[in-house]
Amino acid sequence: PTLLDGAVDEILRWTSVAVVMARTAMKDTEIRGQKIRKGETVAMFFPAANRDPDTFPDPYRFDITRSPNRHIAFGGNGEHRCIGAALAKTELRAMFRALLPVLPALELHGDSKMLVLRLLISEFVQLPVRRKEGLA
Ligand code: HEM
Repeated sequence: PTLLDGAVDEILRWTSVAVVMARTAMKDTEIRGQKIRKGETVAMFFPAANRDPDTFPDPYRFDITRSPNRHIAFGGNGEHRCIGAALAKTELRAMFRALLPVLPALELHGDSKMLVLRLLISEFVQLPVRRKEGLA
């Protein structure tokens, strides 16, 4: 439970449930050598940015003690940053706080099913679990 804050951020980085958003360039610009002309659409893939090795050492390691963890699961720090970020994190902390006592007694049971909605949001629609045998 004491690691919950870091765990929630790492879960958000790892899952990056918002997959992609787009922006329209308002003026000619250049990002890392890539020229972008005014009016062009630029897609931002959050899962890719959240595995950027320049920002996250060993990015494919799930590490709830990762610090700093400057993930952009809620967007960057611009005008469109998710307005519900604080609420979402509070909900996630509450959910995992409630789940933690029972988690050790559960195991995956059957196939999970993940759905990516129009490339925008990914979510589990099925994650079957059962109580481990021999545990009260
Ligand atoms: C884990 C849960 C959530 C994730 C990962 C998430 C992620 C995001 C992302 C990536 C954006 C786009 C940022 C951008 O375009 O730069 C966004 C925008 C937004 N989110 Fe969330 N969100 C979550 C929960 C919520 C909740 C609970 C609410 C409302 C209570 C909410 C309301 C909004 C709104 C209104 C915007 C549009 C902000 C704007 O364009 O000005 N989100 N969110």
